[in-house]
This record gives sequence, structure tokens and C-alpha cells, in this order.
Amino acid sequence: ATEPDLTGRHVVVSAGGTREPLDPVRFLGNRSSGKQGYALARTAAARGARVTLIAANTGLPDPAGVDVVPVGTAVQLREAVLKAASDADAVVMAAAVADFRPAAYAAGKIKKKDDQEPEPIVLVRNPDILAEISADRPRPGQVVVGFAAETDDVLANGRTKLARKGCDLLVVNEVGERKTFGAEENEAVVLGADGSETPVPYGPKEALAEMVWDLVVRRLV
Ligand code: PMT
Repeated sequence: ATEPDLTGRHVVVSAGGTREPLDPVRFLGNRSSGKQGYALARTAAARGARVTLIAANTGLPDPAGVDVVPVGTAVQLREAVLKAASDADAVVMAAAVADFRPAAYAAGKIKKKDDQEPEPIVLVRNPDILAEISADRPRPGQVVVGFAAETDDVLANGRTKLARKGCDLLVVNEVGERKTFGAEENEAVVLGADGSETPVPYGPKEALAEMVWDLVVRRLV
């Protein structure tokens, strides 16, 4: 049976992948389905939490008893997360956020001109939401959790990212064209800022979500 150990707590979870538009019909995106973030939202609600789920382009049904805020771009995701985080006990960033967005948005569809080479796409940096929340902690004592999607040197990159982002926990998972994205299962190591390392074996995304909440509950004040 599930322990109601998140009763009276407000948690914010981000899920899915941002889409950065080039014109009204095209965008730069990624392969996140939102399933890992939705598993986090469902399991937190089952453990008694009030849950705000910031959902970027997921197309998944709203989990019962969860407040869902749909967003499109990284800038919109940042606004929604910061607003919800002001009174949150924990923030978990499972969304795949674009590091860069196109510098320009064309109000009309970009046309192909047969006699011209294609224009290069110029990118600008998006805000780093996880780093910002970790540094500012909208609420004192708030527990901040990030995810790291890596394709190689998974653990070494994860440790570097944990230090750079400044969060309390970083869930490091390996991704690929057919790995983790969109799957029902995941496998991860949860790194703690305190030096802890918690391996979570391959299994349903709910099992990883439950372990994340176990580790969060221990850190709540
Ligand atoms: O959605 P699924 O199909 O279930 O797949 C799950 C998942 C692979 C998307 C998920 O488990 C995962 O790893 N999510 C994080 C993906 C990601 O963006 O990783 P990253 O290493 O690029 O970013 C590190 C962390 O910083 C993440 O918590 C991310 O939300 C955050 N970030 C990144 C960039 C940015 N500009 N702002 C951020 O806050």
C-alpha cells in the first residue's frame, strides 16, 4: 500500500518536450513523450501531494486529481514552473527543455526558393530553469530535482551536471532514438548533492518515480 507521506505538500513536476517554433508550421523539438513526468505526477498524487504538472506538448490524458498547465516553449515552461514553484515543497524537472531556440520567428511559412541555398538557422540560448530554481529557491528549504538525459559517459556527465545545475538530486538516465523516450520503462542512477548514489534497476517509469519521491521525502523539512 502507498504511504500518504506527501500529504499536505505541494509538488511541481515538469514533463514532455519543449517545441521552439521557426514559423507557424515548423519547430525544433525532441523525443520526450512526457511519460516519466506523468508517472511522477501520478505517484505523488497517490502519496497525498497536491500536484501541479507543467506539461509541454505531451498529448497524454490529464492524470486524475492533478492540476495540469499546458505549455509549448521553454520560455513558457519557465514562467509556468516559476509561478507554481512559489509555494512548492519540491520541484522535479523531468521535462526535456531545449537549450536553444531559433533567434527569429517568421510570421509566415518560410518558403523554399529553388534558385537559393537554404538559410542557416541561427540559435540563441534559452533560460536554464533548473539552474535558476536551484540558485533562487522560490521557497526556503524547497527540494529541487533535475533529470539528465545522456547518450554517453552517462555517470561522469551526470556528476558534472549536478554540480553545474546546483540541484539536490539528479536522476541520470541514458537516452537514444529508441531508448527511454516514449518507453514504458526506464533505468537510472539518482545522484545526490550529498554524494549519495542510488541505482534504480530497469523497470516501469512508476518505480523510478516512487524512488525519486522516497529520496525527496527524506530531504523535506
Ligand atoms: O518523456 P519520456 O518519453 O518519458 O522520457 C523521459 C526523459 C528521457 C525525457 C526524462 O527521463 C529526462 O531525462 N528528462 C530530462 C531531459 C533533459 O532535458 O535533460 P538535460 O540533460 O538536457 O537537462 C538537464 C536538466 O535541466 C533537466 O532536468 C531539464 O529539465 C533541465 N533544463 C534543461 C535545459 C534548460 N534550458 N532548462 C532546464 O531546466
